[in-house]
Amino acid sequence: MDNQMNEAAELVSRMTVEEQALLLSGDGWWRTHGIERLGLPAISVSDGPHGLRKLRGLFGDSVPATCFPTAPALAATWNVELVREVGAALGREAQAADVQILLGPGINIKRSPLGGRNFEYFSEDPLLSGRMAVAYIKGVQGEGVGTSLKHFAVNSQETQRMVTSSDIDERTLHEVYLQGFEMAVRESQPWTVMSAYNLVNGTYASEHPELLTDILRWQWGFEGFVVSDWGAINDRVSGVAAGTNLEMPGSGDHNRNKIIAAVHEGRLSKEALARSATELVAVVLKASAARRPDAGFDAEAHHALARRVGGEAIVLLKNVDDVLPLRTGQKVALVGAFAKMPRYQGAGSSQVNPIRVTNASDELATLLGAGSLVHAAGCDDEGDTDDALLEDAARKAASADVAIVFAGLPDSYESEGFDRRSIDMPPGHVRLIEAVARAQPNVVIVLLNGSAIEMPWICRVKGIVEGWLGGQAGGGSIADVLTGRVNPSGKLTETFPADLEQTPTFPNFPSHSGHAAYGEGLFVGYRHYDIRRLEPLFPFGFGLSYTKFAYTGIRSGTAVFDADEGASVTIDVTVKNVGAVAGQEVVQLYVHERAPVLAGPEIELRAFDKVMLAPGEDKTLRFTLRRRDFAHYDVQAHAWPVNAGLFDVRVGGSSRELPLQLTFDVRAGRLAKRLTRRSMVQDFKEWTPLYEELVRALGFGELVEPADQASTAGMTPEQITAARKARAAGLAFVNEMPINKVPAFSHGALDEARLDEILSIASV
Ligand code: BGC
Repeated sequence: MDNQMNEAAELVSRMTVEEQALLLSGDGWWRTHGIERLGLPAISVSDGPHGLRKLRGLFGDSVPATCFPTAPALAATWNVELVREVGAALGREAQAADVQILLGPGINIKRSPLGGRNFEYFSEDPLLSGRMAVAYIKGVQGEGVGTSLKHFAVNSQETQRMVTSSDIDERTLHEVYLQGFEMAVRESQPWTVMSAYNLVNGTYASEHPELLTDILRWQWGFEGFVVSDWGAINDRVSGVAAGTNLEMPGSGDHNRNKIIAAVHEGRLSKEALARSATELVAVVLKASAARRPDAGFDAEAHHALARRVGGEAIVLLKNVDDVLPLRTGQKVALVGAFAKMPRYQGAGSSQVNPIRVTNASDELATLLGAGSLVHAAGCDDEGDTDDALLEDAARKAASADVAIVFAGLPDSYESEGFDRRSIDMPPGHVRLIEAVARAQPNVVIVLLNGSAIEMPWICRVKGIVEGWLGGQAGGGSIADVLTGRVNPSGKLTETFPADLEQTPTFPNFPSHSGHAAYGEGLFVGYRHYDIRRLEPLFPFGFGLSYTKFAYTGIRSGTAVFDADEGASVTIDVTVKNVGAVAGQEVVQLYVHERAPVLAGPEIELRAFDKVMLAPGEDKTLRFTLRRRDFAHYDVQAHAWPVNAGLFDVRVGGSSRELPLQLTFDVRAGRLAKRLTRRSMVQDFKEWTPLYEELVRALGFGELVEPADQASTAGMTPEQITAARKARAAGLAFVNEMPINKVPAFSHGALDEARLDEILSIASV
């Protein structure tokens, strides 16, 4: 960005305050302002994330575009290369429509399955969300189109989304809610970041200096501009000072005049205004230079890509008696309105006008022959049913060899703008499944839904296929998996709970009080189910295949890891296909800290990879872990220290099935702790003379003198025990003492200057 930054700074220096303020608000809903006098062009932005939504008017109709599988489906592939390809296709479609910035990806954490926009987000896990975001951003931006990483930050509920404060502790904020954003910014530099509607700990996200400037720009090195979510601006002048560059949609002269007045009255410095405008202009220049006015795209190829991605996204949840894949010659009953009228995307700002939509019924007819299929609607597209529909479905199911019921969540159940009330399916879908299961022993359920649902009927069916909201080609993706053309390889990126009561936020989600207390802290998703030893319906990372994989070996060149900055350790994992057909496996690596000093999750996903294996074939995958993979966020040091100790690395095909394990003796490394005056005496143990000096200064010198054998002579066993207890209590007292208290305890003998020296010695 250096070139554009210099050019932008030069341009901005030639602008009046009025012109700079003009730039900081959009020209309507989807464009920035240009400044003709200086030859500065305007750029266009459009949603996002799983297809281009370039509106032709203010609402409603948008230009036809490929509707790719939604974010949960993309993530369920665990295939970063595929997600990068989708990003590139989106970039090409944006170029062809003369759009310079695509408003995605959305990477908010799925805190509750009730979250209304879960269908727009990747996962409950920050690492997976971050990796997906990096791949998506690299794909789009590789085509010369910018992205908008959203919604920054801690935006996990739709209820009262513009007035609710996400109240969260600093460790959870960094380890769970910011980590994906951090990865995306550091590794892929999105051209823009979108500040969220909500407040974070009482301050609007769009005017949050700590988030938008200290963390985003200074710590992570963000080089683009921050755009407000549409209508997220509260106090515009504070927003400019805090780091929100562009207000969207534009507010005409309303906020522009406030900015100008604030500059004239000295409430906003000229430098701050110019800096904000410069950051924006730099991206405008970059985006304009990358514009390809003659660009086109191959709609057929994009449809084929959407089908391929949708196939890899499908998660096979149950397959008793190998009911799937379907066998040639079988007569198949297709039941449910979704078989012909699929639900393939969510509603709200992400809703794409698809180029075309395929359904599973037509696609299965192509692959199996129409003659082998019989249809029963069973319900309408909202899931309602009646006795006649149920009877017809049961009769047709009974006449076939296998019945496939299409069910899930209708449109009215999930959308941007509201949260779900329950994780139930429509009662009509449940009745339909039960009616078919009474008539036919071989029942497979295909689910179309954007987030986890409850499955009270699970024991009554042999097969369950999670098809997500699979995009415009989702019908073909489902047909591919049902027929075995594609061997399913998707894995869950969110836990499917047994019931709502089991979820981490129950019963506090969503909040209606203006304050959403993130009281579950770090224990979101599998981190919650694991620590409480709960049995979810399906765990994070779970997914079956038509073949079987064996985890046969794990190795590392070392058993010790010195967690210095820049250090890394590699782990080789061997996986073998021990089944009869070729297939892909998602290999997942989690880290478990044996004796954590701070309460933390049991295991955390730290790496993953996807591998294709022919029957009988094995491959060895190499994973690299770095210091940060063993670290936690320390709220006193505002840094990521590592606690020395034993860490297990566990590897397998699901968070609850990790057959391989390797243990590392992790040494904290020199950069482990940032010491301050509030550090405890025990934090200096590594520097023995300093530690002893501190203990002596506190008046407890005898605790660090070598134990004198003779001193217990003549003591009764009771007296010895009492002395030991007193010594242990004394040590606990001094170890827990913050060093800023030592000068007072020492009556000034260890003075402030010596304290500074001790700190500087230990901080090297
Ligand atoms: C949504 C954003 C979207 C924007 C523009 C907002 O309501 O929260 O995700 O990009 O509208 O449509």
